[in-house]
Amino acid sequence: MSTPELIRIVDTARSVAREVIMPRFLTAKRNQKDDGSLFTVVDLAAQEALIERLPRIIDRPVLGEEMPESVQLRMWHEATDGIWCIDPIDGTTNFVNGIPFFGVAIAYIEEGRVRYGVVYNPMTDEAFYAEQGCGAFLNGAALPLRDPAHHLMDAVAGVDFKRIPKALGDALATQSPFYSQRNFGSSALEWCFIAAARLDVYLHGGQMMWDFAAGSLIAAEAGARCSMLDGEPLTMAPGQKTPVVVGANAALYQEWMDWLASHGGR
Ligand code: IPD
Ligand code: CA
Ligand code: CA
Repeated sequence: MSTPELIRIVDTARSVAREVIMPRFLTAKRNQKDDGSLFTVVDLAAQEALIERLPRIIDRPVLGEEMPESVQLRMWHEATDGIWCIDPIDGTTNFVNGIPFFGVAIAYIEEGRVRYGVVYNPMTDEAFYAEQGCGAFLNGAALPLRDPAHHLMDAVAGVDFKRIPKALGDALATQSPFYSQRNFGSSALEWCFIAAARLDVYLHGGQMMWDFAAGSLIAAEAGARCSMLDGEPLTMAPGQKTPVVVGANAALYQEWMDWLASHGGR
């Protein structure tokens, strides 16, 4: 079911969360990056621990969210034989505010495709993981965990309103086509909620590659379909924000895309 590499990546995410992240939950102080987003010393410490431990599994460089963009770009362009891409804490705003919903996201990428994806939620001890072509799992249980909604009107939608075109945001707020809407504040875990069919459809106006690399493989291996808002495939590169549209299966994705396209999404 799971290769030794995948098991070791899950173990690494769990151990870094237990040893480095969780002891400092509720005490970490917020710092602001140049772009206005938050980080803490715990994000940096977790990134360092992953940079040290992941190459013991596959000896390739680790590109982390908290590195300078110039370093990320150089690593990305020099990585011809595979590269790790990590978000040491996805959901830092939740983490610093004491909201118990954040995760560790790890992807291993070869030839521009994610081969392994792991997202670990330390609060629930839930490890979501996938290897390309081998299905997706949550703590050993095959994903999805339930049948997704049959139609958009019955769907629970993950929608993060920031960076969504204004006309589309207004339409989503005033003419919502789904049953109910959520925004949990950790995009990596939101992708995994699609994989588990806890969410049926998902929309985010602009994610970085470490937000979606691991989760998009896990969701795809669970049967989800995704694209950018214009219908093109997601593209990975540091420094680039990618809008994402996801459905837990092909039919939901199509119904969601059609609605978005006809309400200002293109
Ligand atoms: C953020 C979270 C959040 C999403 C933001 C991301 P971070 O990641 O995934 O849910 O809406 O766009 O930047 O900064 O907590 O790693
Ligand atoms: Ca993130
Ligand atoms: Ca982060």
